[in-house]
Amino acid sequence: MRRLFPLPVPPAPSAPAPGATGEPGPDPAADREWTLDELADAYAYPAADDPVRSGRPGWLRANMVSSLDGAAHHGGRSHPLSGDADMRIFGVLRALADAVVVGAETVRLEGYRPARARAAFAARRAAAGQGPAPAIAVVTAGLGLDFTLPLFTEPLVPTVVLTGAGAPQERVRAACAAGAEVLFAGEGLGVDPARVAEVLAARGHTRLLTEGGPRLLAQFGAAGALDELCLSLAPVVAAGDAQRIMDGPGVAVPERFALVSVLEESGFLFTRYRRT
Ligand SMILES: NC(=O)c1ccc[n+]([C@@H]2O[C@H](COP(=O)([O-])OP(=O)(O)OC[C@H]3O[C@@H](n4cnc5c(N)ncnc54)[C@H](OP(=O)(O)O)[C@@H]3O)[C@@H](O)[C@H]2O)c1
Repeated sequence: MRRLFPLPVPPAPSAPAPGATGEPGPDPAADREWTLDELADAYAYPAADDPVRSGRPGWLRANMVSSLDGAAHHGGRSHPLSGDADMRIFGVLRALADAVVVGAETVRLEGYRPARARAAFAARRAAAGQGPAPAIAVVTAGLGLDFTLPLFTEPLVPTVVLTGAGAPQERVRAACAAGAEVLFAGEGLGVDPARVAEVLAARGHTRLLTEGGPRLLAQFGAAGALDELCLSLAPVVAAGDAQRIMDGPGVAVPERFALVSVLEESGFLFTRYRRT
């Protein structure tokens, strides 16, 4: 992993202070394997009192992978676009989150399972007052989900179902019976994307990570609800007619995001952009 931006590179947080041992610390811009701690430091969420939070109830970060030509999946799966380094960052971003917000179609197509506890992040999560793993929060209007799956029956922390007040009552009952926590973030059938952060923050989930899919992410984007986009650009051409990372309603004026950092490994660019 190499840091391409920002430069000049600040000292790595986990490195010994230069001069302390008479030896310079490891250069975080160098082409070497970064530790999980270094990656976690690099992707830390802004603190609650950080001015970039500007009073918002939580921080909604998205993590998506795209091919060079803009495809968000190949054959209905994102895995063909991904790689080892991408999966490492995917895991770090999960490990930093209180909740992973994901559209029901991604849950169905990608076979979502509960997030797992990872020893490498246990101390960091405990120090941050987080449970052993993030909750998976499934956004759905119809609740056409298989509640007998491990996602609902075996999570370390209860899986959340985010829906609207008009969702089918018997499906809501089935979700609750399976152990899911049902939260309402909309008055109609579906979820109001602008209310998701507030509703999850009320349950103590303020460090939010959305893993899409494109139809859900487009709604967060159009509602001005997205604070940060971690976009992995995969060095592959997929062609075809797959969705891009946002697939849905547009905005009247494209919203400007600021580049925070760029890492590189094996031809992948791991970009991080923040709302301005
Ligand atoms: N490249 C990447 O990083 C990446 C990431 C994730 C997924 N993907 C790919 O994206 C594809 C799936 O994405 P997708 O865009 O088709 O679907 P999606 O956004 O994952 O899920 C769409 C579903 O989410 C629910 N939903 C969305 N907005 C809602 C709202 N406002 N209120 C209530 N429910 C809402 C609905 O579920 P119900 O039908 O249950 O009501 C809807 O059918 C897969 O091929 C997957 O591999 C790629």
